[in-house]
Amino acid sequence: MESYHIRGGTPLHGEYPVKGAKNAALPILAAALCKGGIHEIYGCPDIGDASVMMDILKGLGADCRRDGNCLVVDSRQLTSAAVPRQLMSMLRSSVFLMGSLLMRTGEAVVYRPGGCNIGSRPIDIHTDGLRHLGYTVTEDEEKIVCSGRCRGGRYVLPYPSVGATENLMMAALSGDGLTVLENCAIEPEILDLQGFLRTCGFQVYGAGTGTIAVLGGKGISDAMYFIMEDRIEAATYLMALAGTGGEGILTGVRGRLLGSVLQVLENMGCRIRSFQDRIELVSPERLRSPGMVSTAPYPGFPTDCQPQLMTLAVCAAGETRICEEIFENRFSHKKELMKMGANIETCGKNAIIKGIGRLQGAEVCAQDLRGGAALVLAGLMAEEETVVTGIHHIERGYEGLERGLRLLGGNIEKKNERKTKKTEESAAEVGCVSADHGSSPWVPVLSHV
Ligand code: UD1
Repeated sequence: MESYHIRGGTPLHGEYPVKGAKNAALPILAAALCKGGIHEIYGCPDIGDASVMMDILKGLGADCRRDGNCLVVDSRQLTSAAVPRQLMSMLRSSVFLMGSLLMRTGEAVVYRPGGCNIGSRPIDIHTDGLRHLGYTVTEDEEKIVCSGRCRGGRYVLPYPSVGATENLMMAALSGDGLTVLENCAIEPEILDLQGFLRTCGFQVYGAGTGTIAVLGGKGISDAMYFIMEDRIEAATYLMALAGTGGEGILTGVRGRLLGSVLQVLENMGCRIRSFQDRIELVSPERLRSPGMVSTAPYPGFPTDCQPQLMTLAVCAAGETRICEEIFENRFSHKKELMKMGANIETCGKNAIIKGIGRLQGAEVCAQDLRGGAALVLAGLMAEEETVVTGIHHIERGYEGLERGLRLLGGNIEKKNERKTKKTEESAAEVGCVSADHGSSPWVPVLSHV
């Protein structure tokens, strides 16, 4: 069982180069199926979710290999349009294969996607949108079978879902007509997906605004593409600097993508200078409460930064209110932070945090990706030693978080310990499971394509 051992109390300082974005890389890896070719995708973080996505692509017949931070996907030959249930359940982004497989093969057989347990996370907008575009979609509680071609037209998303916007962009590429998607999500990662699709020769316009136009077509070229920077990783490191009373510079990140996060950190007393390619932060002696913060779709405060903000609020002077507006079950880190002495009350989507002077080290367990990152930050801010277990959740989305924090002077080590009966029992108590991928889920003979 792997865990992080953290000795808190050292202010972080120095420079950290931000990595490529998980939330751009995963849909783009799925999109590499839309046009059969040899695609070189640079800046892909080496994270658990990317490895699972590569396994899925390989199972579908694509050849995939990692060369440093470049993933080479040869998608010229596909042998299947069916993704096994076990792999679907390992990551949320498997849902993007609906759109890319439909574009390429006219069929897709998938199961309900997995990912972090942060709410019910339905996919009704994905399936409803596909039906509007002209696809046949049959689904039961587990399996979803889609087939057909896109007939074009207009679809207004009932909510600007990031995943549904990306899935429908890919599904709209089949057929010959024009499809207009309205009330789309405007997250920067959607613009990155558009950039990749255009590099393949597809005609997609308007990403980054609420209206996206897609013209059907086959694509014309192999793509060589550079993934955008990970604004959530950047925010996590900024909060680690702020929480430990440190100062530092993040490079390779556009400050304007993090407007709402930087505003909250400034309200907490940090001095920030934001540039085209870097962000500099100097923290105050003690953080103060930012008041009330609500999560919202981009450019609002990201739900993916809410757990880390809660950790900062725990030690900030005054009372902080956080309202989680995107996912209904995203406070799993609260119970663990309270083991470290935090004073947090939650009621539905609201949390009230009363700032205490200092956290106390404890053994805590990550139960989802960003909640896990929040616990690591808490460990860096706490007195004595903190042990964070369940770190496979964290490694699904952060490449070498412990190495990055050490680069900034953090006292954090990853250890691989044998499971004892006691640690197994305490992990089970808070819902932690190990990242054992089990035996191969692929059915040997696949005849769909
Ligand atoms: C994406 C991000 C995730 C981030 C989230 C919100 C990726 C790979 N993941 O997730 O990191 O936390 O955006 O910024 O980019 N909804 C429905 N029906 C649907 C789809 C969504 O009701 O069919 C609801 C969800 O339950 C949630 C809200 O819409 O309440 C936002 O979800 P969505 O934007 O789809 O998030 P994801 O694409 O899952």
